[in-house]
Parts: sequence; structure tokens; C-alpha cells
Amino acid sequence: MDPVLAQIYAMDAAEMERCARHVMLGGGTRGGPVLARGQGVRVWDTAGREFIDCTSQSWALYLGYAHDEINAVIRQHIESLTHTHQGFDTQPRFFLARRLAELAPGDLNRVSFTVGGGPAVEAAMKIAIKNVRPARDFVCLHDSYHGTTLGTMGASWISTHASGDYIGGSRFLELTRPFIRIPNPDTYRNPFGVDAATYAEMCLTMARETFERGIAGRPAGVIVEPIQASAGQLILPREYLHGLRALCDEFETLLIFDEIQTFARIGEMFAADHFGVTPDIIVLGKALGAGLPLAAIIISDRLEGFAPDTEELHTFANPSLSMVTAAKQLALLEEWVLANCREVGDYLGERLRALMADYPEIGDVRQAGLHIGVEFVRDPATREPIPDETVAIRNAGLERGIIFGLGGVRRNVLKVKPPLICSRDEADEILARFEASVRAVLRA
Ligand SMILES: Cc1ncc(COP(=O)(O)O)c(C=O)c1O
Repeated sequence: MDPVLAQIYAMDAAEMERCARHVMLGGGTRGGPVLARGQGVRVWDTAGREFIDCTSQSWALYLGYAHDEINAVIRQHIESLTHTHQGFDTQPRFFLARRLAELAPGDLNRVSFTVGGGPAVEAAMKIAIKNVRPARDFVCLHDSYHGTTLGTMGASWISTHASGDYIGGSRFLELTRPFIRIPNPDTYRNPFGVDAATYAEMCLTMARETFERGIAGRPAGVIVEPIQASAGQLILPREYLHGLRALCDEFETLLIFDEIQTFARIGEMFAADHFGVTPDIIVLGKALGAGLPLAAIIISDRLEGFAPDTEELHTFANPSLSMVTAAKQLALLEEWVLANCREVGDYLGERLRALMADYPEIGDVRQAGLHIGVEFVRDPATREPIPDETVAIRNAGLERGIIFGLGGVRRNVLKVKPPLICSRDEADEILARFEASVRAVLRA
């Protein structure tokens, strides 16, 4: 083994502890297992403990850990190319751009690659600014999350008081740009007590009022996660998304779908197709590179794209290795993984909903493919969030060999988002460990 690798792999807990003061984190929860190796939906820590990973590592490992076919592609391609600068053409970039354009809905045909989700949202904003005039302000939804770069932080709920406190993004207000927010139809927490369709209609009316009277100039663009993931896996009503499309057309602005979390995980390549709404720009990130860093925007042919005079240039925006893994993953998604995601996702959703009979504290289960959120409340009638118990259930899961994501603006949503290759047997294991963790905390 390479001596440096041997040195790294030999580090014990005490040595890592001595290194810890050199590591600075701006997010994520420390104190979990120290991960050493993974295979499929499972990961092991340095002490040899096994976990089923329902986070897919920031939801990005669609094919799980150490997927044979992805690793084979990496081994083959790495012998020829890894890093290539944006200015140089490569076969992988031509191939992947064409594949994404073929798969994308409507006339979304041109792709610009970039280095991460936040920068991809910013790339979409640049395209919008070039195409919509007179315009300055972007619209986003209450509880949305679009990144932590200075350009996107203001669009993420972590810069608001949504969590009951000013956290994260609120410390950089001098540098972040303001966004105009419109209400999101959170159908589980509908504050008006009307039916879901009326609620969606009311949110659209408030959006229209804002477009008309709350924005100087046209809205530069409306940025939407079709399923608000970080907010708590909130599935936006179909009629609401259709209504937003109509509003964007009427006000001659762009509809930008942030599909960084929905891409493929909902059992279809694009949420745009799932909801039957074609946006003007789709933003992709996270799992696009099959676990290697890659993000992109796909834009409509009607739009003016980037000019090659340094409007959008990044050192690592042409990672040929990530592009071949992305292309391989698209092939596997089409072959069997999307169908598996739909089938196992529906099964998990149904079984999780069945648990509501025994555990009324499970207030809501929101599922689309393997994009699943479970919201915990004191009582299904009051819907009072129970964040402390939700954290305790997550920790009980760690003791029982399962990693859940923790989220939602009220910190009371467990995210069950395993890799899309999860089998039905593995889904049963997830359910057993989920119920054991819930029982340990709520029925102790
Ligand atoms: C919907 C959405 N948009 C944007 C981002 C930002 O992506 P990144 O963390 O790669 O910058 C995230 C990350 O969680 C996300 O979930």
C-alpha cells in the first residue's frame, strides 16, 4: 500500500482527536461515527460498527457506496484524464451535455456545468439576469433552501427566523443579497384551516399580489424546489406549481426549478416531468456525479446563454471523471434504478404510514420515490413539533445501526433517503431499525 495511505488508515481515535482542532466546520453534525468504508446501502465506522445509511451522504450517493460499475468506470477513465480546465473540450462533456438535454423536458437543451449546488443556483440567476429586464429581485419560497454561498444564502431558510432563531445565513446579511419571499403551501401545516386546493390557490393569490405590488421591476426569476427538502420534505401541490408557471409567463419572468434534491430520487429523472410543469431552467447538483462533485444548469433554447468572456468560469467546472460517472449513472438509472426507486420508495412510504396507527406522534409521512420525510409531533391534533424527541430518535438509530437525516425548519423531521439501489429486504431492515428507534424513545 502507498505509505501515505497506510499512514492515514493507521490513525487511531487518539490521533484523530489531536487533529480535530485543525478542522473547522461551518455545518453538519459532528459526533457521529468516523466513517471508514462503505458498500451498497451500508457504511462501517473505524471501530467496525455497521450502519444503514439513510442519508446517502447528503443525499448524493444514489448508487450507494463503492458501486462496482461506477468504480470500474472510474478506474478505466482515471488512467487517461481527471482534471481538465473548462476551456478544453472533452468527449465526456459533449456526451453528458447531450444526454442531459435529451432527458430534460421541453426545449431545455443547453447545459453549463459547475462545481456545486450553490454555484449552480447562482449560474441560473446569472442567466435570469441576462434574460429578464428590467429586473433585479429574485423570488423564492418561505422555507426554501438553495445553498450557503453569498449569492444564495439569502434564499435559504437558515437566514430567516423560521427555526425560531436567527442562525447560519443571518450573520452575513451585509454581503448576502435579499430575496423576495412568497408563502409556500405547506399542506400539513396549513395555517388557514381551508382545504388543500383552496390553500394552494390562496398562496398563488399572495404570490400574484407580491409580483404586482411587492417587487420593483419584473421578478428576475422565481426559484423553487418542487419538493422543499431541507424545509422538511414538503411536497408542493401540483396545482400550485402549475399556477406559478402561469404567473411567471404572465409577468414575463423565468421559472427556475432547483432539482438538486429531486433529480431521480423521486423515481423520475426530473420533478418537472413528475408535476407536468416545464420550467425555464433546471438546476442539478448533489448526486449528478454519482458521488463525485458535479453540478449543472440546463436552460431553455429560448434564453440567451453564457458568453465566453468570463461570465461563468470555474477551475473545476469540467471534471471529466465526474462526467463519466454521471453518464454511467444515467444509464443505470434508466436500466433499473429509477424503477427500483419507485417500487421500494412506495413500499417504504406505505409501511411508514402504517406505523402511524401505533405511533400517533408520527404526524405525517411525505414520500415521493425515496425522497421521504417523517414528521414527529406531540399529538396529531395539535401538531406541536417535538424536536428533542426527534433528535433522540436519530441518536437511538445510531445505536441501532442506522443513520437518519434530521431536518425541517422545526427540526422535527427524520429524513429516510437511502441510496436508490436499496432492495426490499434492506427496506425491511430500515423499517425494523426505524421502529426500534422510535419505540426506544417514545415508549421508553
Ligand atoms: C435544494 C438545494 N439547493 C441547493 C443546495 C446547495 O448545494 P451545495 O451544498 O452543493 O452548494 C442544496 C444543498 O443541500 C439543496 O438541497
